[in-house]
Amino acid sequence: MSSQNAISRFSLIARDSKDHLASFAEAVEAGLQGRPKSIPCRFLYDEEGSQLFEQICEVPEYYLTRAERSILEKRATEIAACFDGPLTLAELGSGNAAKTRLLIEACLHAHGRLRYVPVDISPEILESSSLALLDDYPALEVRAIATEYRASLPHVRADTEYPKLIAWLGSSIGNLTRDEAAAFLHSVRGNMSREDRVLLGIDLRKSPRELEAAYDDAAGVTSRFSLNLLQRLNRELDANFDIGAFRHSAVYCEAEGRVHIEIVSRRAQRVRIDALDMEVEFAADEGIHTENAFKYSAEEIERLAAAADLELDRGWSDVHERFSLNLLAPA
Ligand code: AVJ
Repeated sequence: MSSQNAISRFSLIARDSKDHLASFAEAVEAGLQGRPKSIPCRFLYDEEGSQLFEQICEVPEYYLTRAERSILEKRATEIAACFDGPLTLAELGSGNAAKTRLLIEACLHAHGRLRYVPVDISPEILESSSLALLDDYPALEVRAIATEYRASLPHVRADTEYPKLIAWLGSSIGNLTRDEAAAFLHSVRGNMSREDRVLLGIDLRKSPRELEAAYDDAAGVTSRFSLNLLQRLNRELDANFDIGAFRHSAVYCEAEGRVHIEIVSRRAQRVRIDALDMEVEFAADEGIHTENAFKYSAEEIERLAAAADLELDRGWSDVHERFSLNLLAPA
């Protein structure tokens, strides 16, 4: 149980009014009528999917989380010292607690107090993860935002008491196309003041072999994460997907710098989705596109920053140069 003191330092400053089951149903209906078929990756993260993603972060092939954490372990103090006094740490995606803690501790150590503004679609996850932090750090204050990233930006902007560090970690930006990534960062920039900074974790280009292994691990955790989307369709929309009749696929296209992730039908088949009163026809080897994971070179990171009206203030990578952490300032 959290103390009254911890609870008093927590507030939920905004929440989404949208009905997420309805938006899942709409997205599935539209996506499965598209050619190629697709379902947006945000629907991978139901409770089961979020737990599986946590497990992905532990598999040996998925180096991203460990590489980013190793950079933060080395650089958190330096990042906190970029601010002369107390700051607000806003985080898009309430993220992996271990990484967030490194930043929180460095900011508290440097400036004595910290306001943390996590953004996550789930108010339940925000509350439980925030209370755990508030119990551990008496000088922390949390103002959580339970909306999608885009909708959170005006709320982040309205918090003007301290200069802000807006963290977007884990290479979540890789889910967006390069154009979408630049456009989203540009809107982040539009909600920043001169003294604010963005801390952006971006996975780097590397060999197809390493990337395909990272997105299709030998123990099959990533495959379970992917196929859980079909389980979710069965559970929530009364579909009758035979999970064994589909497989996970992750293919890296070097020219695009993109891992293309799909759920592939092993044979020609027809599936019913009762809640949508819909029949879906699959050809053998036909895929449902679920995720992109774009990878960046140093030059592509510079270009991304420039397109968003930002400039690279400092950039770091891990010892194996697999992953990068970038501190961006208004250009
Ligand atoms: C959470 C979007 C950063 O693309 O690396 C990992 C998601 N999907 N394995 C990524 C993911 C399959 C992950 N992100």
